[in-house]
Amino acid sequence: MEKESFHLSYMILLLTLVASHSHASTQPLCHEDERSALLEFKATTFIRNRPCCYDPTPVEQAKTESWSTSIGQTKSNCCSWAGVECDKVSGHVIGLDLSCSCLSGKINSATSIFRLLRLRSLSLAWNDFSCQIPPVIGNLGSLSHLDLSGSNFIGPIPHSLGNLTQLAHLDLSYNLLIGTTLPIGNLTLLNHLDLSHNYLNGTIPSSFGNIRELEHLSLLYNQFEGEIPSSFGRLGHLKHLDLGLNSLTGEVPSFLGNLVKYLNLRDNMLIGQIPSSLGNLTQLTFLDLRINRLTGEIPSFIGNLVRLTDIDLGYNLLAGGIPLSFQNLLELGVFRLRSNQLSGEIPSWLGRLTQLVDVDLSFNQFHGAIPSTISQLRNLNSLYLNSNNLSGTVNLDTLSEAKNLGELVLSSNKLSLTVGTNITHRYVSLGLGSCNLNGFPEFLRDQDDLLLLDLSYNNISGQVPEWFLDVSIENLLQLNLSGNFLTSLAQDPVIFKWKELYVADLRFNELQGSVPIPPPKIGYYFISNNRLSGGISPLMCNLSSIRMIDLSYNNMAGFLPQCLSNLSGTLEVMSLHRNNFIGNIPQLNGNVCALTMIDLSYNQLRGPLPRSLQTCKALEFLNFGNNQIRDIFLSWLGSLLSLKVLILQSNRFHGLIGEPGDGIEFPTLEIIDLSHNMFFGSLPSGYFKHWTAMRVSETYPSSYIGDRILPKWTFLSDPTFYYTMSVIAKGIQTNYSKIQEYLTLIDLSSNSFSGAIPETIGSLKQLELLNLSSNMLSGLLPPFLANLANLEALDLSRNRLSGEIPQELLQLTSLEVFDVSYNRLTGPIPQSQQFATFENNSYKGNSWLCGTPLSRKCRDLKASPPSSPASEDVQDSGSSMELDWKIVCMGYASGLVIGVVLGNSLVTRRRAQRLVKNFSRRKQRGRR
Ligand SMILES: *[C@@H]1O[C@H](CO)[C@@H](O)[C@H](O)[C@H]1NC(C)=O
Ligand SMILES: *[C@@H]1O[C@H](CO)[C@@H](O)[C@H](O)[C@H]1NC(C)=O
Ligand SMILES: *[C@@H]1O[C@H](CO)[C@@H](O)[C@H](O)[C@H]1NC(C)=O
Ligand SMILES: *[C@@H]1O[C@H](CO)[C@@H](O)[C@H](O)[C@H]1NC(C)=O
Ligand SMILES: *[C@@H]1O[C@H](CO)[C@@H](O)[C@H](O)[C@H]1NC(C)=O
Ligand SMILES: *[C@@H]1O[C@H](CO)[C@@H](O)[C@H](O)[C@H]1NC(C)=O
Repeated sequence: MEKESFHLSYMILLLTLVASHSHASTQPLCHEDERSALLEFKATTFIRNRPCCYDPTPVEQAKTESWSTSIGQTKSNCCSWAGVECDKVSGHVIGLDLSCSCLSGKINSATSIFRLLRLRSLSLAWNDFSCQIPPVIGNLGSLSHLDLSGSNFIGPIPHSLGNLTQLAHLDLSYNLLIGTTLPIGNLTLLNHLDLSHNYLNGTIPSSFGNIRELEHLSLLYNQFEGEIPSSFGRLGHLKHLDLGLNSLTGEVPSFLGNLVKYLNLRDNMLIGQIPSSLGNLTQLTFLDLRINRLTGEIPSFIGNLVRLTDIDLGYNLLAGGIPLSFQNLLELGVFRLRSNQLSGEIPSWLGRLTQLVDVDLSFNQFHGAIPSTISQLRNLNSLYLNSNNLSGTVNLDTLSEAKNLGELVLSSNKLSLTVGTNITHRYVSLGLGSCNLNGFPEFLRDQDDLLLLDLSYNNISGQVPEWFLDVSIENLLQLNLSGNFLTSLAQDPVIFKWKELYVADLRFNELQGSVPIPPPKIGYYFISNNRLSGGISPLMCNLSSIRMIDLSYNNMAGFLPQCLSNLSGTLEVMSLHRNNFIGNIPQLNGNVCALTMIDLSYNQLRGPLPRSLQTCKALEFLNFGNNQIRDIFLSWLGSLLSLKVLILQSNRFHGLIGEPGDGIEFPTLEIIDLSHNMFFGSLPSGYFKHWTAMRVSETYPSSYIGDRILPKWTFLSDPTFYYTMSVIAKGIQTNYSKIQEYLTLIDLSSNSFSGAIPETIGSLKQLELLNLSSNMLSGLLPPFLANLANLEALDLSRNRLSGEIPQELLQLTSLEVFDVSYNRLTGPIPQSQQFATFENNSYKGNSWLCGTPLSRKCRDLKASPPSSPASEDVQDSGSSMELDWKIVCMGYASGLVIGVVLGNSLVTRRRAQRLVKNFSRRKQRGRR
């Protein structure tokens, strides 16, 4: 809108100029001082390379270039110069329009045009000055029209602007202006004020209410916060109010004058209901309240605003149905309610609103059939009804009677679609997901303009026909075939011919053969959960724009081509999870790595890990679990300051973990699973001190790790891509289909760690799941574990811990799973709190524990006290260490995997189920 009105005013100015030129003979003679000021200005500014200023058409000649000192012998009259306007009588320069003049270079107080004190109109718009607005502008006290838009002005708006009390039109839009105090409130003659597209912040000054003449006010796309001032109620002439794309709070104002025609409050943080007073704005033609937090129902009085042509209430929390009164809105062209909680049926009277061009009711809970009257909307360009609960049969031929319908999206309902043969339409977007289709509709053959095509979750089975691979070869940008029963593509190997294809989703089919090769422009390629076999073709290394690739859950095998490293500059997410890849992991290329997520788990890859991973500074998630990687602990991974999840479980990592370096290491780590490896030595006590995210309570912008990764515009049936993992949680192998941001876990089980449990672990106050089982830990069961106030599961089983279970552990009120079985613990079991819920299995294999739930009574113990736990320990640790060492070395040498398989013996099944339930209930309550 802004751009357009700019074009318009620019055109008008241009026309005026043309007109004034044609009357050159009647020009007054210009004054010498003003003439030299203009020529000085010409001399002190630079002209950028042309063409410049592409709005509306590229400018080839800058206005000042045509200014010349003389024509033949006579001095030229500056009043006839391009962009200069003189007073008809006095000959003084009163107007200067240097918009789109390809000017660059700084202007300041010495700049000569500021000596033209009689200027009533000044435009420097759409040049490039890259400096502050010079305060000297406050001297031009006669200005009524000032346009400095789009010229890269930076910094605060000078206070002196407040002296220009004659201003009626002020446009400072599209600059880089900052600041919270606006010297505007005294400009009481202002009629048109545009400060949009800047970085102004703070609250909107209530002094704006003094500008009684204001008709047009735009603060679009700034950083204003707080409420819309009630003083706006005094703006009785206001027609155009645009406060969109700020951070305004409070409610939609109920005090606006009745002349308002255009109201845009989109992208703020407004709450509450849409006020009934809006029903008084009978002139309203444009209403955009999208992307706020509005609640309640859509008020029926909006239906009284019969001049409305555009209404967008999308992305709020509105509920209820579409009010009947909307059938009065006969002028309505744009009608968007996307992403609310609206329900009821789509009313059949919608067919009477024949001016409708864009209709978007998607992502709501509308049910019932699509009314047949929709086919009366002959002017429709786009119809979005996807992601509702619509049912019944739709005839595509009927819908196609709107000759310009280019975007039709019906996906994710419960519709059945019938398709005739008469479709002569050219679609641009076609969403026919979940439409009960049994095959590829024939009419697609001719759809050469398609950009987006969604056929996901239909019943399309068997081979993809050859012709389909040619549909819209030149244009197709996004393709979604996921959730069908496709078995193969026409040839093998397939190289997709769609030149522009950027998003392809073929997940959840039965595709066999080798993985189809997408075109080099592909950005998002999802083909997981199929039956693909064969290796990764080196052709995949040509995907120079790839950002996400998901080949997980297939039967692919073979070596990973070294050239995959070519992708590391763009690739952000790569999952090869659950295939049969073998061999080494390719190094990355050079020093660029865009990866945020890499999941190579459940393959048969060997090591070592590529050291070049340390260039992946954005890496959040690294899962190499369940391979055969032989390496030592990668201490340098600690310098990846975004790493949240590190899973190396079930490999052949070995050796000491050692101590961290001096710097910050693993500050964001939330989940670390090193279980089932061959680490030995003492627990990494130094590292525990560094794992800040496990110590400090944080609030996270989103609920799941990685869930903001997919851009909103992707045309996928499920546009969220979550990171997944499979770890032991509370004694149970658990598949996480998404990972809550606050889940914290340490699993170091089934290694050969020895020595005592270090005190540093007591600082990890946010830790929820701790598993140190099946190691060779010795010493006492330390009381400082009671500091882990959030602990929900503690597994210390199958170690050599001795002494008593400290009573302090009673403080662990979140504890749901506790396992100290097969240690050398003695004495009474704590009896109250959580400990009242633990069963026999938690304690067995400790000959000298007593009390409930064990059958051994504590007084029995006194009869036969155990030998001194301390001395036993000292004796023991040395010799058995040696023994285990031998096993480790033997296993290592012969290539055997050494590890203890953790059974489900920790908890009984019924108890486990109960725990899972408790767990999820507690999560729902949200503790942080
Ligand atoms: C603006 O006006 C005030 C008085 O109203 C004056 O003191 C000040 O110098 C003026 N500023 C400029 C830049 O002209
Ligand atoms: C407006 O004018 C009044 C008096 O003329 C002055 O006190 C005040 O500072 C001015 N406000 C602004 C924002 O310039
Ligand atoms: C406005 O933005 C500046 C710079 O970003 C910031 O320092 C200042 O605190 C902000 N002021 C308000 C009131 O938000
Ligand atoms: C709407 O207009 C009517 C009649 O002019 C008036 O009585 C009423 O108070 C107005 N409502 C609001 C909320 O301004
Ligand atoms: C969808 O509609 C069916 C009836 O067609 C109804 O049983 C079901 O509850 C609806 N689902 C939602 C989420 O509204
Ligand atoms: C197809 O179009 C032709 C001519 O426009 C018409 O005669 C015929 O009835 C249509 N067929 C169907 C199945 O709609």
